[in-house]
Amino acid sequence: MEEKCLVANLCGGCDYQGIRYNAQIKLKEEKIKELFSKYVDVSPILGDDFYNHYRNKVQVSFGKDRNGDILAGNYAKNSHFLVPIDSCQICDERAIEIINSVKRLIKKYHISIYDERIKKGCMRHLLIRTSTLNEIMLVLVTGSPFINKEKEFIHDILKYNPSVTTIIHNINREHTSMILGNSNKVLYGKGYIVDELMGLKFKISASSFYQINHNQTVKLYSKAIEYADLKGNERLIDAFCGTGTIGLLMSKYAKEVIGVEINSAAIKDANKNKEINNIKNINFICEDAGKYMQKLAHDKEKIDAVVMDPPRSGSSKEFLKSVAILKPNKVVYISCNPDTLLRDVQYLMKNDYKLIKIQPVDMFPYTSHVESIALLCNN
Ligand SMILES: C[S@@+](CC[C@H](N)C(=O)[O-])C[C@H]1O[C@@H](n2cnc3c(N)ncnc32)[C@H](O)[C@@H]1O
Repeated sequence: MEEKCLVANLCGGCDYQGIRYNAQIKLKEEKIKELFSKYVDVSPILGDDFYNHYRNKVQVSFGKDRNGDILAGNYAKNSHFLVPIDSCQICDERAIEIINSVKRLIKKYHISIYDERIKKGCMRHLLIRTSTLNEIMLVLVTGSPFINKEKEFIHDILKYNPSVTTIIHNINREHTSMILGNSNKVLYGKGYIVDELMGLKFKISASSFYQINHNQTVKLYSKAIEYADLKGNERLIDAFCGTGTIGLLMSKYAKEVIGVEINSAAIKDANKNKEINNIKNINFICEDAGKYMQKLAHDKEKIDAVVMDPPRSGSSKEFLKSVAILKPNKVVYISCNPDTLLRDVQYLMKNDYKLIKIQPVDMFPYTSHVESIALLCNN
């Protein structure tokens, strides 16, 4: 048995707590085999050699106990019951230290805590992103526009946590489960962090998607590059491209890359990433991927390969229909949800594609989530 986190049953973060790591990854591999082995041999899962403290993005909500001490943690599944944490087996340890320090400073400066039930108060969430270049972003999410003694508070955060390189104030007055609101004000530093991944540098903003497990991302993206097997003369679409990571890494193997993504902040980062890495043969489009592919299909554009990495809900019908019309030779499909991956793969198989390979990758140790990457070729 692995040592079990003290709040494992309450927190809702890690549903594979208490299971030996080798058994965890076996369960995940089995899940992919159950769904896909009738079509193709499933490759052995790529496990995480480190599997603790891998999360480079940590977010907590705030509460208060009877003594007025500040609590930080996650809400128990489907509830508004805060499960406080002082340590975490999967989060970057630097982030946990910062959270504990910020809690003490919130108390010191009498900053109110946002109350979900009455929708009033200030401090709501804290989001921390860390990078391999030792840059650390803090996003203070508040339910009101002002932070009591803001200047002194920020001064002390930096004094006690000198590793923090940027601080952003995000205001979220919406009554939703989304962590971030739309308004961002940079209180310290440049407002973003930079990470280094497979020889390139990537700018990451507060709201942009970026893979949360760095070591496993290297394995995932390397497999995507291997599956795409580009020869240098291809026109490649990187759909659902986020900050452009996959397309930028693949650009040196292709003639031209087009990245398409709906989040404008991520596209802004993607363009910056193109610039800082001095890459010329890639362009980024801010649009719904399905609509963009429809236009390409309408204009009878020639596309040689598609790499796609949609959210958990998978791809839209519009997108898949356009792939079936454009008929790129290869589709490399990265997915964090095996059920929607299966649905979309089956659609493509009904439309002249053959599933050639599938590779599970463990991006999220201690949770039941499993990432996989599939290669489909046009028959
Ligand atoms: C799983 S992330 C992948 C990001 C990127 N490929 C990476 O590895 O960092 C999915 C991305 O799809 C974007 N997205 C969601 N719906 C979309 C849509 N309809 N059209 C285009 N992009 C979308 C999200 O904003 C997010 O950046």
